[in-house]
Amino acid sequence: MSSAEPLRTTQADTSPGMIDLAIGHPSPSLLPRELIRGAAQQRLAMDFTPYLQYGYEPGDGFFRAALADFLSRNYGTETRESELFVSGGASQALDLLCTVYTKPGDVVFVEEPTYFLALRIFQDHGLHVVSVSTDEQGLIMEALQEQLDNLRPVFLYTVPTHQNPSGATLPLHRRRRLIELSREKDFLIVADEVYHLLTYGDRAPLPLAAFLAEGTVLSLGSFSKILAPGLRLGWIQAAPSLLLPLAKCGLLDSGGGLNPFTSSFVLSAIDTGMLDDHLGQLRGEYGHRLQTMRAAIEKHLAGLVEFSPPGGGFFFWLRLSDGRDSSTLLGNAKRHRTSFVPGSAFSAGGGLLDRLRLSFSFNGPEEIAEGVQRIAETLSRNPPIV
Ligand SMILES: Cc1ncc(COP(=O)(O)O)c(C=O)c1O
Repeated sequence: MSSAEPLRTTQADTSPGMIDLAIGHPSPSLLPRELIRGAAQQRLAMDFTPYLQYGYEPGDGFFRAALADFLSRNYGTETRESELFVSGGASQALDLLCTVYTKPGDVVFVEEPTYFLALRIFQDHGLHVVSVSTDEQGLIMEALQEQLDNLRPVFLYTVPTHQNPSGATLPLHRRRRLIELSREKDFLIVADEVYHLLTYGDRAPLPLAAFLAEGTVLSLGSFSKILAPGLRLGWIQAAPSLLLPLAKCGLLDSGGGLNPFTSSFVLSAIDTGMLDDHLGQLRGEYGHRLQTMRAAIEKHLAGLVEFSPPGGGFFFWLRLSDGRDSSTLLGNAKRHRTSFVPGSAFSAGGGLLDRLRLSFSFNGPEEIAEGVQRIAETLSRNPPIV
């Protein structure tokens, strides 16, 4: 059978000549093929093959012990294997948490702006999503308190460090206040910490994973950003009592623990130190890309946009100085062979029209500089060119 369309294998396809600053995936050049090959070869050479069997529900114990060591080193706070549950990435973890902890119609709080694809997951579960305002330091505690006076969410979903899209990082005093509020008002905090390890400047404050003892935090981590999204491997870190219902759910009872095969390779990558080395390289390269994008924005977009530079992660969050709706510029951007994500995508209530997100993860430094120049041409030409 033949198809008129070429067969596709990856989620984001870019046409030749396009510099797509909308894509927040790692760039193909940073996907560690040799590392994965070495780790896989080491594991496959062993006689011991439990990774080919249905896995233990919370995830392989040896892998979780190695991950606990890795996180203790890199988060700077002690992590125990019993506080880790292996997931198929942060998205799958979020979906599982919704399955286990919510029912349709329940209220969940999100940040405004929030990670737009989390909104899709909450929609799938029929949840009632309520936004809480943020500033350049993330969630505003007074705004959260005000919402809590009227509503009781099952959980608050937050990306506390190098947020997607805003790049904001919640300072330690706000993290502490957030934990206090979750205890006082009895709600869970789902902290999506996938960018915590991708800090390029000053050290980030302690992750929310450092506050598990309070019993209200479920912290999500992922290998998508620090190794490769195709592995579909991540973890949930929480007090064991919060993890128990996950391990007992029907999905795992039938299918066993998630991704035993992949996690056995990553176990080798951690044990051999390859993951730490790779993380060091990523921080160097992404840090360089961040600075390249910042310099290009300052050079080409001065007067057109306002922004606060991020200290890590993958994104710049821009506000159009003239207040235009950025989605009206998207067609024009594509004609200039570039793209961005309009701000409204990150709003649960259709706001943030004058914002846009640019990513510096997918493209190399030269493309980033050229892409920002194309964005500047897009912004300064209105009405659109034909
Ligand atoms: C904040 C945030 N959470 C989750 C994800 C997806 O993570 P995973 O690949 O582990 O499902 C992304 C990817 O862009 C993200 O930015």
